[in-house]
Amino acid sequence: MLLTSLLRIALTRSLKPFVFEGKYQNKLEFEDLEDLGLYVHIPFCRSLCSFCPYCKEIHDARRAEAYKAALLKEIELVTKDLKVPKRVTSLYFGGGTPALMIDDLKEIIGSLEGHFTIEGGIGVELHPTDITEENLRKLTEAGVTMVSLGIQSFNRSCLEKLGRRWEPFEEKVRLVRDHGFEVIDVDLIFAIPGQTDVTLSEDIRTAFANGATQVSTYPFIDFTFADNAYKPMPEKVKKRMLKNLAADCRERKLDRTSVWTFAKGGTEKYSSVTRDTFLGFGVSATSLLKDIFKINTFSIDGYISRVNEGSLPTSLTLNFTKRQRAAYFLFWSAYALKIDPEKFRRIVGAPLDSMYQMEMAIAESLSFLTRKGNTYELTDKAAAIYHHIEQVYTTAYIDRMWNISRKQAFPDRIVLK
Ligand SMILES: C[S@@+](CC[C@H](N)C(=O)[O-])C[C@H]1O[C@@H](n2cnc3c(N)ncnc32)[C@H](O)[C@@H]1O
Ligand code: SF4
Repeated sequence: MLLTSLLRIALTRSLKPFVFEGKYQNKLEFEDLEDLGLYVHIPFCRSLCSFCPYCKEIHDARRAEAYKAALLKEIELVTKDLKVPKRVTSLYFGGGTPALMIDDLKEIIGSLEGHFTIEGGIGVELHPTDITEENLRKLTEAGVTMVSLGIQSFNRSCLEKLGRRWEPFEEKVRLVRDHGFEVIDVDLIFAIPGQTDVTLSEDIRTAFANGATQVSTYPFIDFTFADNAYKPMPEKVKKRMLKNLAADCRERKLDRTSVWTFAKGGTEKYSSVTRDTFLGFGVSATSLLKDIFKINTFSIDGYISRVNEGSLPTSLTLNFTKRQRAAYFLFWSAYALKIDPEKFRRIVGAPLDSMYQMEMAIAESLSFLTRKGNTYELTDKAAAIYHHIEQVYTTAYIDRMWNISRKQAFPDRIVLK
């Protein structure tokens, strides 16, 4: 808590906490934003994994049908004032398990395409059980070009510690590769009890050998509302594992594309939230615009009744001060290991140098940053520190926010210090 407070105060140069209010606007300003991404949340799973913090419930066909109708209404509400289709970079479906609504994805994509021109790809998260010949064909037909596979580990004992069923997933990754998707991300978790640097390195090797273009390696986080039979290994071990896996990926000539992602050179990234601005649809989806960050309700019933009343299903809104917007931009740029001063100026409305000259100079002198042309890149040394900061924020901010949102459909306000 102390670390998050100090960093917030340092970056925003203010004691003002982040205040999320229950009040909201029924119109979102996004027409003029460049580099806008789209995200759609599908909150249904076949069974619920004990470690997973995301907003989801057990799939039920009738509830999914009602949810789809509400999703289509939310799209209409958000876009009602658009005169011409808005250009967007990408569209991602996450969850939950989006493939449980695979026959609805085409209709949802069609509805979004009525209002947006999707210039980059369309991505979908897949649980290993979803990886079948028929599903992959349906995804291709619906225009999906990027997939993210929730493998977690190829190692039987590690996977069982997470409470997930083991199968020879190598065959599944190869099946995806043979369908010709442009981007194939494999999600792995590290610091699972019993996991070693060797088994983790083997997992990364297996992912790439069977067709992954990117691997996301997330440190195992024990959310306060999770029900983990086995707890993550301590932070000291996480730090060592990340250092070794980063060195391992460097040796394999992979690019480090964020603190926790590694990709084959020349491939596109699978990244649903590391965008400058995005619009999110569905329960728990967030939207990041020029001056606001907003979160939709986590309650499916609350979501359906709000959109049926003709209102946006927003539960909480943060109206950024200039310094807070700048801090938010820097936080996610640092996660992606790249700070682009031109983008900073466009989004924050002031030059990076004028707001953080001293901090940038100190970071450069400590070898946390290097200059590449007009941008700054974070070094592995900075990434190691950032790995820790990101987890502290996840616990202090995301865990707290999601825990409240799981219990209250429309909280009055949440203050994050
Ligand atoms: C929405 S989830 C999973 C998508 C899909 N339903 C699945 O299970 O394969 C996205 C990713 O978050 C990561 N994740 C979920 N809970 C986590 C935790 N407690 N710690 C670290 N990573 C986690 C996993 O790697 C997971 O694949
Ligand atoms: S990890 Fe995936 S399948 Fe498991 S509960 Fe979370 S979203 Fe559902």
